[in-house]
Amino acid sequence: MLLFSLLLLAALALPTAHAEPPKDEPDYTPIWVPLAVRSPYLGAWLSMSRNQKNLAREDPHFWTTQPLGWKGLLRVDGETWNWMGDLTEWPACNNASLRTTAASSAFTFTNEPPTVSLTAEFLSPITPADLFRQSLPFSYLHLSVESLDGQPHAVEAYSEINGLWLADEEDEELLWDSLSGGEDKKGEDGWTGVKARLKDQRNFVETYKQDEFGTWMSTDRIMHGEIVYAAQASEAVETSFSAGHDAMATRREFAETGRLSGTSNSTSPRPIRTRSLSNSSEILDEPVLALSHSFGRVGPSTKASHRSALLAIGHVRDPLVQYMTPDPSGSSTGPDSKPRLAEKVIELRPLWRSTFPTLEKLLSFFLSDYDHAKQASEDFNTKLYADARAVDGEEYAHVVAISTRQIYQAMEAVWDESEEGKRAEEGLVAYSPVTGEPVPAMVFMKEISSNGNVQTVDVIAPFLPHLLYASPSLLPLLLEPIYRYMSSGLYVPTPPAHDIGDHYPNATGHNDFLYAGLPIEETGNMLLLAWAGMQVAEPATEGLDARVKVREWWDSTLASSSDPPRIGWEARVGKGRDHRREGARMAWAQARERYGLLKGWAKYLEEECLYPGDQRTTDDFFGSSPNQTSLVIKGILGMRAFSEIASSLGESSDADYYRGVSSKYRDIFLDLAVAKDGSHLMSTYNNQTLWITHYNLYFDLLLGLDVFPQSVYDMQTAFYPKQAGPYGPPLDSRFPNRAKTDWLAWASATCSPLLDPFSPSARADPCRRSFLDGLARYFREDVNAVFGDSINEEGWSVGFLVRPVAGGHYSLLGLQALRQARVRAMRRMKEREGRWWFELAVLVGVGLVGLVSWRAVRRWRNRRRGYVELGAPGGGRRRLSAAAGMGAVDGADERRGSEMSVWSAGGTPTVPFALGDEDDEEDAEEEVIPRRG
Ligand SMILES: *[C@@H]1O[C@H](CO)[C@@H](O)[C@H](O)[C@H]1NC(C)=O
Ligand SMILES: *[C@@H]1O[C@H](CO)[C@@H](O)[C@H](O)[C@H]1NC(C)=O
Ligand SMILES: *[C@@H]1O[C@H](CO)[C@@H](O)[C@H](O)[C@H]1NC(C)=O
Ligand SMILES: *[C@@H]1O[C@H](CO)[C@@H](O)[C@H](O)[C@H]1NC(C)=O
Ligand SMILES: *[C@@H]1O[C@H](CO)[C@@H](O)[C@H](O)[C@H]1NC(C)=O
Ligand SMILES: *[C@@H]1O[C@H](CO)[C@@H](O)[C@H](O)[C@H]1NC(C)=O
Repeated sequence: MLLFSLLLLAALALPTAHAEPPKDEPDYTPIWVPLAVRSPYLGAWLSMSRNQKNLAREDPHFWTTQPLGWKGLLRVDGETWNWMGDLTEWPACNNASLRTTAASSAFTFTNEPPTVSLTAEFLSPITPADLFRQSLPFSYLHLSVESLDGQPHAVEAYSEINGLWLADEEDEELLWDSLSGGEDKKGEDGWTGVKARLKDQRNFVETYKQDEFGTWMSTDRIMHGEIVYAAQASEAVETSFSAGHDAMATRREFAETGRLSGTSNSTSPRPIRTRSLSNSSEILDEPVLALSHSFGRVGPSTKASHRSALLAIGHVRDPLVQYMTPDPSGSSTGPDSKPRLAEKVIELRPLWRSTFPTLEKLLSFFLSDYDHAKQASEDFNTKLYADARAVDGEEYAHVVAISTRQIYQAMEAVWDESEEGKRAEEGLVAYSPVTGEPVPAMVFMKEISSNGNVQTVDVIAPFLPHLLYASPSLLPLLLEPIYRYMSSGLYVPTPPAHDIGDHYPNATGHNDFLYAGLPIEETGNMLLLAWAGMQVAEPATEGLDARVKVREWWDSTLASSSDPPRIGWEARVGKGRDHRREGARMAWAQARERYGLLKGWAKYLEEECLYPGDQRTTDDFFGSSPNQTSLVIKGILGMRAFSEIASSLGESSDADYYRGVSSKYRDIFLDLAVAKDGSHLMSTYNNQTLWITHYNLYFDLLLGLDVFPQSVYDMQTAFYPKQAGPYGPPLDSRFPNRAKTDWLAWASATCSPLLDPFSPSARADPCRRSFLDGLARYFREDVNAVFGDSINEEGWSVGFLVRPVAGGHYSLLGLQALRQARVRAMRRMKEREGRWWFELAVLVGVGLVGLVSWRAVRRWRNRRRGYVELGAPGGGRRRLSAAAGMGAVDGADERRGSEMSVWSAGGTPTVPFALGDEDDEEDAEEEVIPRRG
């Protein structure tokens, strides 16, 4: 038995990514540099294309390309230099270098001649193991200075922000204040900060303005919330602030004295900017929020802590989104004239509110958490580079790394205080890094730039590969708001709505039943996403430290009197609570709860997907047409995914049925969709000359559905390289020079699927090269001010900016993550089977011995009493029933093994390949270790 298991293990051992030794990435200069990229309303970028290559002469901008006021000065021995933003009154620093990782962009500047350098590291943490941290609406700026010539120099650094971080409209009136905190934190000093908000607060409102064609467009800035700029205090570095004084006066104060007044201007409110009436390029008044740091005399032996400053910038709102729910206490009539429940729009608060009662507490935590956030981000970057290099080399690694921050810009996590959320105790949760406790959570997503919709299904689907690689637990948390709305009774059509709200942050649904016309696409997506979420019990990134540590954190207001004081509290998130491992468990629970909905969607596909009506696909700029093969593939795969879900949940007749339908449709499809010359799949059944890139086939391989035969992949693999345009094979043959970056990456993962994706031959495969070389070329040449995912004839993207679909670039990593997950699941299943047989054998053995000895004893006793024994069924039966009782436990175990689903006493489904291991349970025991200090 043991031998058998060992052999099996050996057979299943998977070639994993060979982690090359960590290597710096100093020589890669992305053409869009993320600076502070954290939420739909906190995003500062530097454009390196269009000949603007210097932070010291360019204002960082929002993704809409509107400049944000973020400026910086460096003072060396009384002489002032400009290191950030366009401040022409002072000479610009030399931009000596730029180093980027998945989470940070670090610039180094010098004065001229170079005696002192300033390194400004912009860190927007990427902590996929920790959703709570990932959701904090702040980004770091770490400044450090260094003497270059062996001499001591008097050094001060200055930076400021203005009201353009809140709104594009200069006449909006601004209120500001200084703030400070951290005083109840032991061992370290507090912090100093400044904040501002619009005087006229309009929750959930974005401003609109007319574009050159007269169309009203959102500026994508929200008229609600505060911009916060703060710096950690330290004994060695003196930090001063200035709030609401005019920009020119504030800068001059710094240039002259190297310090700021530490005052807040009382003439408030004032407009973001006041311009001269006679000369509009002359700015008369502009209140700014500024911080300056005096490092004293910095020489070669000055300690790092004495020549550095840590800042945080944040955009903070509460509440975050409005969400449509049914109101069971009332009724109304739907557009179909049928009665339905009344509607109730609820407001959802940010996840951090569950743990931090005030902005100040949150900021104290964020600043004190820098070391951990930086380390976690570095670990993720190292792992990502190692994996991505192993799968497709250095350039692919750069592409996925620089794509990462913008994925998270689209998302915000909410604290789900609703009734459904409260019931989710063991369901949809994130873990607080302070208490280690589960907090009911959901994640909302803005379809940035293309239209601002909330939770667009065909935007979540493209970035699935990143989620599967880095943070599978985000998937059920993203899908939950959709499931709830679709189950609310407020939306009657069967296929899922394209989104759950016309414009972020209003997830107010479509109670008018109107939705964008791509129902097959979204139905297939929902089923495929549901099954994808159920698969990854063990994340590819699990080697990363999943411990959630809070160093030196103490807060009397957060600790109740019965709690031990939280000094040096260390919440250890053991394996059982590594957030990334929770995803599969949540997804299983979700699939069980929403099974009826999923089944209805499968039925819809059965009815509609073989001969799609005049529908659109995700890429609706190509217009709609009937019989699009891309939709047929999506529909067939969606039904197969449902069959897998049904099978996993023990619904075997549904599973068999939809397995049959999907196979039958596939056969009909292949008769209709292959071009007459047998060289490729057409884009519609009825036109021999048109074809598209079939990115949807990726789902077949990703999820191991095995629907389409190898011959289809061979055919497409041979076809694509012959079609390659400047940016890879086009998405649609009617537009030979257009491509979509996410679909380039998806399609690259459908080339030669029999090759090990990590092998040199897979990497050299002409099909894969045609897609990924096109993608890499775009990453070198794009002239957008921020990343755009839709490549047009001129080689850049009109619209489709900073969308999370960049997570699709992770296609090869996602593919590998799921392969590993499947192998592991199979291994566990075999192990369990092996164990079961072993236990059964032992049990039978013990039972037999017991029976034999019992009978012997009885016979002996009876003989002593003078009886003659003829048979003893009663005792035997009792023994058997005890064995059956134990056997039931093992039977459940086996059911786990074969169907991968088990129901605990409380009725909560758990996933055997994620939880339930003795080791894991031990880990879970010591999740939270209060360390008294
Ligand atoms: C620094 O800026 C100049 C243009 O001002 C540019 O040519 C150069 O490439 C930049 N260097 C770096 C390292 O970004
Ligand atoms: C969100 O809904 C509110 C009404 O509740 C409305 O005033 C606001 O303009 C909407 N926001 C957007 C971005 O459409
Ligand atoms: C406050 O700002 C206004 C407008 O820039 C300026 O006129 C005034 O002198 C400032 N007040 C102080 C105390 O600095
Ligand atoms: C308008 O103001 C700008 C900036 O202060 C200045 O450079 C320009 O010369 C002024 N133009 C006129 C016509 O005064
Ligand atoms: C879709 O394709 C089928 C099979 O070729 C054909 O019978 C049908 O007419 C097509 N539908 C449309 C609207 O073109
Ligand atoms: C196929 O599509 C092309 C381009 O749209 C069109 O010109 C042609 O007429 C179509 N052929 C058929 C048979 O519909």
